[in-house]
Amino acid sequence: IDEASLRPRKLSEYIGQNKVKENLTVFIEAAKKRNEALDHVLLYGPPGLGKTTLANIIASELGVNIRVTSGPAIEKPGDLAAILTNLGNYDVLFIDEIHRLNRSVEEILYPAMEDYALDIIIGKGPSARSIRLDLPKFTLIGATTRAGLLTSPLRDRFGVINKLEMYTPEELKLIVERSAQILGIKIESEAAEEIARRSRGTPRIANRILKRVRDFAEVKGKGLITKEIAIMSLDALEIDPIGLDGVDRNLLFSIIDKFAGGPVGLETLAATTGEEANTIEDVYEPYLLQLGFINKTPRGRVATKLAYEHFGLRYE
Ligand code: ADE
Repeated sequence: IDEASLRPRKLSEYIGQNKVKENLTVFIEAAKKRNEALDHVLLYGPPGLGKTTLANIIASELGVNIRVTSGPAIEKPGDLAAILTNLGNYDVLFIDEIHRLNRSVEEILYPAMEDYALDIIIGKGPSARSIRLDLPKFTLIGATTRAGLLTSPLRDRFGVINKLEMYTPEELKLIVERSAQILGIKIESEAAEEIARRSRGTPRIANRILKRVRDFAEVKGKGLITKEIAIMSLDALEIDPIGLDGVDRNLLFSIIDKFAGGPVGLETLAATTGEEANTIEDVYEPYLLQLGFINKTPRGRVATKLAYEHFGLRYE
């Protein structure tokens, strides 16, 4: 049983993101009733919240095939042209990390999205001419961490734009219990709550922690994940009671100790912590912002009173 088997396959099995689910249910039903392709969908939000899962579910609810690729994987305009011409009518094309498409590839996408057309330039120089090929009617689903990473012409061509929010501990608990059931893991309710609280709002992290805690339960315990086993494992993994890990602590201590609480610029923070600026922004900051532990100001990041208090430090 692998990662993919934990992913829900129908909207009704998908826990959380209720607003997104409600709206998508309507748009999917309307498109099916009218016998049209669903409008292009942009999904954005931090990694691990279920963008790829949702794309697969949308295709399955529409009853169509899905072709999965990513921005960096499509190197040349011809690569995208090949993918587009091989789609079936109403199929879904999922492009993960769509903000990383290069410019020449992105330009192929505009007429494809707008008119289901492929403009091909034949020849070079003064004799060059353009011919237009019809494409199947398809639905593009694009995923990215932040909508602001897209160029505005690309963003403007999505008819449905959905932001995925971090999950509540209650939703994560349901996800942990569902995953445990699928994997045949026995887990106490309070242990599932403990994992949920420490998963930083992210199902992918919750499922990863569940598997590591199962290892501890099998080796150090009797197989059942009790609250004690969960706490012992999470402490061993150096994940604190609200889900902060070593990198989060390194980031916060940097701001607090080296820059007197900030403000400190992203690039400076990256240099002093040894983490990639993009990784800080896309992976670590969303949860720290959500907790209210950092603020973004025009002059850089600052640590808040809440962050100081979490570490038992005095804020002045
Ligand atoms: N597994 C991962 N994400 C999930 C979700 N949103 N609902 C149900 N199971 C999941």
